[in-house]
Amino acid sequence: MQQVPVNEPLLDGNEKQYLNECINSGWISSEGPFVEIFEEQFAAQVGRKYGVAVSNGSAALEVAIAALEIGPGDEVILPTFTIISCASAIVRAGAVPVVVDCESSTWNLDVSQIESKITSRTKAIMVVHIYGLPVNMDPLLELCHHYGLQIIEDAAEAHGQTYKNRPCGSFGIISTFSFYPNKHITTGEGGMLVTDDEKLAQRCRSLRNLCFQSHKRFVHEELGWNFRMTNMQAALGVAQLERLDEFVQRKRRMGRCYTEQLSNVPGLQLPLANADYASNIYWVYALVLTDEVPTDAQEMMNRLGQYQIGTRPFFYPMHQQPIFRKMGLFEDVTCPVAERIARRGFYIPSGLAITDSQIEYVVKAIKDCLYEKVA
Ligand SMILES: Cc1ncc(COP(=O)(O)O)c(C=O)c1O
Repeated sequence: MQQVPVNEPLLDGNEKQYLNECINSGWISSEGPFVEIFEEQFAAQVGRKYGVAVSNGSAALEVAIAALEIGPGDEVILPTFTIISCASAIVRAGAVPVVVDCESSTWNLDVSQIESKITSRTKAIMVVHIYGLPVNMDPLLELCHHYGLQIIEDAAEAHGQTYKNRPCGSFGIISTFSFYPNKHITTGEGGMLVTDDEKLAQRCRSLRNLCFQSHKRFVHEELGWNFRMTNMQAALGVAQLERLDEFVQRKRRMGRCYTEQLSNVPGLQLPLANADYASNIYWVYALVLTDEVPTDAQEMMNRLGQYQIGTRPFFYPMHQQPIFRKMGLFEDVTCPVAERIARRGFYIPSGLAITDSQIEYVVKAIKDCLYEKVA
């Protein structure tokens, strides 16, 4: 029996060479030269002026919220179907997260539901591109323009993706990325903020570095964090970035292979290959069990586990998170689409190192688990 991990990155470019440079030169901290190189090259890749590297994508969101001075009295609209990092950054800042349900086809936030949530307290919309297709940005940009709202764009899952040929990561006043190993490019752990606003970039740099001051280093006017990225992480990032186009192609090929082999299997909603405005980059290959399937996602994941196949459940909606309910948030909120897919959805091995034979093995196991064992 094969073992197929849910994710395995590809690290067979210049990663070792650049890491050796760090070790040979002694530059292993955030002061080393790869950090700035990575920031500049990454920002350029998404067409932004400034990049600020941080320790992970969650930290990037915390810094973004702080840099935009979002706090008590403010509301931020975000999708309920996302990772906790998005909502926790808002809540920790003392602001109120206001959630919107997602589309059943793309699993991205349903832009048509945003307007009714806008109040005089709404300060920003946190846009999150989910699982490989971007959010439908045109109507969202129009809304933000009309109501004077800022966009914080979480493009953690959208490296190399575009919306109508414009890079994901170019839409926010601040946009953020993650470089966790399941992302299209990885630094082990890592994240990045990108922006075109020099003052905001400076603020982000200060916030990630404990708000040290240049003249009086240990005298602080503000509280920041140590969210710095190391030179070793940035070295990995530079090597990975060299291969982003190739990685996106690999992921698209993986998506095509899975879709070809799964499209005739009843009971599965597959990821959309294309929306009107983008073609999928398959951050993960995600499946939703249709209503006629008697099992739920957890049971399917258990069964696939018996085949040594790694899986992950879908995000659990923010408005149903016990921690937020305990805080008195989201009391009367229902989001039927997110609630359904959270229980019916899971994703299968989708890393860059996946092979054709692993894909075939996973597909066969899915068919077995859906039919033979159920019957
Ligand atoms: C949409 C989204 N935002 C933020 C994050 C957080 O990134 P990190 O794991 O680097 O903290 C993730 C992580 O997978 C994510 O998917």
